[in-house]
Amino acid sequence: MASDDPLREEITLIQDAGARAASLVRQLLAFSRKQIVCHERINFRDAILEIRKMLDRVLGEEIVLELLFDEDLWPVVADRVQFEQIFMNLVVNSRDAMLNGGTVTIEARNSNLVPGNKLEHFPSMPGEYVLLRISDTGSGMSRETSELVFEPFFTTKEVGKGTGLGLSTVYGIVKQYNGWITVSSELGVGTSFSMYFPKSEEKGDGLRDTPTEEGISIIETGSETILLVEDDIEVRKVLVKFLSRLGYKVLEAFDGGNALTVSGEFHETIHLLLTDVVMPNIHGSKLAEILKEQRPDLKIVFMSGYTEETILRYGVLKAEVDFLQKPIGLMTLAKTIRAIL
Ligand SMILES: Nc1ncnc2c1ncn2[C@@H]1O[C@H](COP(=O)(O)OP(=O)(O)O)[C@@H](O)[C@H]1O
Ligand SMILES: [Mg+2]
Repeated sequence: MASDDPLREEITLIQDAGARAASLVRQLLAFSRKQIVCHERINFRDAILEIRKMLDRVLGEEIVLELLFDEDLWPVVADRVQFEQIFMNLVVNSRDAMLNGGTVTIEARNSNLVPGNKLEHFPSMPGEYVLLRISDTGSGMSRETSELVFEPFFTTKEVGKGTGLGLSTVYGIVKQYNGWITVSSELGVGTSFSMYFPKSEEKGDGLRDTPTEEGISIIETGSETILLVEDDIEVRKVLVKFLSRLGYKVLEAFDGGNALTVSGEFHETIHLLLTDVVMPNIHGSKLAEILKEQRPDLKIVFMSGYTEETILRYGVLKAEVDFLQKPIGLMTLAKTIRAIL
């Protein structure tokens, strides 16, 4: 859409609202430990530069964003979505604390903690860590408040503004990676959150490196046949439209049983099964199993909002099946499908 299109602003608002809803859903999934995590080796410097535009947008024009990185920053093992969640939560909090503008500083540093080096402050082992620190020149907090910030549902914001889940989610994520987080704050001066993540042992751990930024992504098209199984009619409609527009031939099914019928009546090749996991009657993973027997070359992509035990059992995290966490971005979907086909 052209930048002067009269509908552009509305569309942008809709898009932003959708993104916010998606991020709230992710927050709840992370909080309830229902989020699928995908471990990758991440360089915080590259990862921060990649989301810089988003951070700028969140902070607005009155707030300056300063970035400080060590050269040759060590990599850490983390999940990309969780990494973004950490940043969104901390940066939104800083923004809320700086209604009259100010500066947010994000630092990423290599940190070698040796015994005796103020280690009593760190509830963890000496060793090599990557320190991630976000500081702001905002309102700061009283001592009493700063002792409560990691508590779930603790918020000083008015109803409808705060959920009190931001920092407890961040805390949970950092812990998951055997790291830890501390806060230091002074009323009227500002606040600083420091997170320590264990340095990743280089290579040989079977993890893939984070792909580097590809710039503006061009959506890749295709012409293969996709069997789409999704019980939510709204979601299904959007996906059919999108995939058809990319050139794919799409067969639709509203549940597992229906998918078996559709597949049985279709006598040509089905290249890919794109299926929801949690569905009435036949579960997505069971469906995949049955269809794979009939069509051994079939590629499979699961979409789900849950970490269902059955998905894990079927081997989503193995190479032969791929998994997309709902809510799904259409660009991610296009890319994943192309990569698999
Ligand atoms: N950068 C900050 N500056 C001042 N206060 C903060 C900052 N970050 C968090 N807080 C305090 O911690 C509380 C909890 O934060 P959070 O868990 O993100 O929940 P929420 O933002 O929904 O209130 C906030 O309500 C606020 O009082
Ligand atoms: Mg918050």
